Amino acid sequence: MNNNNQEDFVRIFDTTLRDGEQCPGAAMSEDEKLEIAHHLAKMNVDVIEAGFPVSSPVQFKAVERIAREVEGPIIAALARALRGDIETAAKALTPAKRKRIHTFLATSPIHMKYKLGKTPSEVLKMAPEAVRIAREFVEDVEFSPEDGTRSEWEFLREVCEAVIEAGASTINIPDTVGYTTPEKYGELFAFLKANVRGAEKVIFSAHCHNDLGLATANSLSAVKNGARQVECTVNGIGERAGNTAMEEVVMALRTRKDFYGITTKINTQLISRASYLVKTITGMVVQPNKAIVGANAFAHESGIHQDGVIKNRETYEIMTPESVGLESNKIVLGRHSGRAGFRDRVIRLGFTPTQDELEAAYNRFLEIADKKKEIFDEDLIALLTDHSRRTTSAKFHLEYYHVTSGTTTIPSATIKLKVDDVIIEDTCTGDGPVDAVFKTIQKITNINPVLNKLTISPVTKGTDALAEVSVSITFGDRTVVGKGSSTDIVEASAISFIDALNRL
Ligand code: KIV
Ligand code: ZN
Repeated sequence: MNNNNQEDFVRIFDTTLRDGEQCPGAAMSEDEKLEIAHHLAKMNVDVIEAGFPVSSPVQFKAVERIAREVEGPIIAALARALRGDIETAAKALTPAKRKRIHTFLATSPIHMKYKLGKTPSEVLKMAPEAVRIAREFVEDVEFSPEDGTRSEWEFLREVCEAVIEAGASTINIPDTVGYTTPEKYGELFAFLKANVRGAEKVIFSAHCHNDLGLATANSLSAVKNGARQVECTVNGIGERAGNTAMEEVVMALRTRKDFYGITTKINTQLISRASYLVKTITGMVVQPNKAIVGANAFAHESGIHQDGVIKNRETYEIMTPESVGLESNKIVLGRHSGRAGFRDRVIRLGFTPTQDELEAAYNRFLEIADKKKEIFDEDLIALLTDHSRRTTSAKFHLEYYHVTSGTTTIPSATIKLKVDDVIIEDTCTGDGPVDAVFKTIQKITNINPVLNKLTISPVTKGTDALAEVSVSITFGDRTVVGKGSSTDIVEASAISFIDALNRL
């Protein structure tokens, strides 16, 4: 086994790129997955579940690239309990230094009968067989009895014993439909740890969905009862109501170490950046009151609270913003900042740009600093993340835009686009300035996608704040998300739309 089974800490198994990506609208490109995976590695995540290779060639390639390029964490790939799935997962994982096959099979009466069409005794044979097949390729095998929390405990015990005997080193108990409660989930872990033959040889893992808003509480209860791995996603993204939010479990274990007596190895100062990255890449906004990573998570608005915090932070603050990587609204740079100061700040924020990327980012920073007096950390992160997307060899490039709009004017836009190396200019009217801009871009590119979602969010406070725009479009059978940022929301919208068209 190569997952430090002897050491007592809670392993963080991040499934943002697999279970997280399964939610509608969160599809990510290969490069974007790589970017997130590298950041997760920097955070010191123990396992990155990179994808479900058999599900599509795109998934296969992304897992293979992560396996080749991301060092540090164990790279896991998901497979149903079928030889073909497991072989494909093993193949995708080939280049990884540390690899895990995660195989799953449903064990609840309802799933076995209606989904699998299998009897319990057939499932009891298939599960260890899948683990044995996986062990032909890797030493580190995780097994999940899908819909574990709606399975009969005695049957679950038998399945766990069989897969341990077959060589599984991690047993994950999924609350697939978000049905369990903290008390019941905790009891289930205590039952399995006490009654499964060979339990001491494996790591038990929690995997919760948030349908009843209990995912974090359930995962923590599992930890209290012996789970030593928690499966989770950044910002809690995932199917339906999402998965357990990584930042919540990590910060709860850190802040309440007095109660849980155990913690994780995550570098918590990289949490905010992870949240930002996942938010901008997926276009899934984070609610302002979201624990740990919401814009208001560390804001004290009421006078009584502000007064208390000024006298002693701990009156109303159980964790510091700095502990999750926020240096709240500290002005860092302005128009007169030089390259050295810019570079220093960029590196302190956790970016490692090449010389060319740094130069391009610095020029963009100067453009923004001309319009916006104070540049905050959040602005820099937006600028750097946005810039990394602009450097890809793009077919369409915005050269110029002009809009007119007003209460008594029909909004119209004039756009100059560089298409490959040819400049094309055109004009359209629309329901509003953004609509006019999008229509003009569609006319020039002759691409008319369906607009699924347009999200505009300010990066910091104030009317001169950078705005980040995320746009989701569908063309044919492809859905992509484009992003753009600017102090001008119409320009940011145009950039995000052009970015989406380039991705198509
Ligand atoms: O929720 C679930 O059951 C899963 C399994 C594949 C582990 O995601
Ligand atoms: Zn799941």
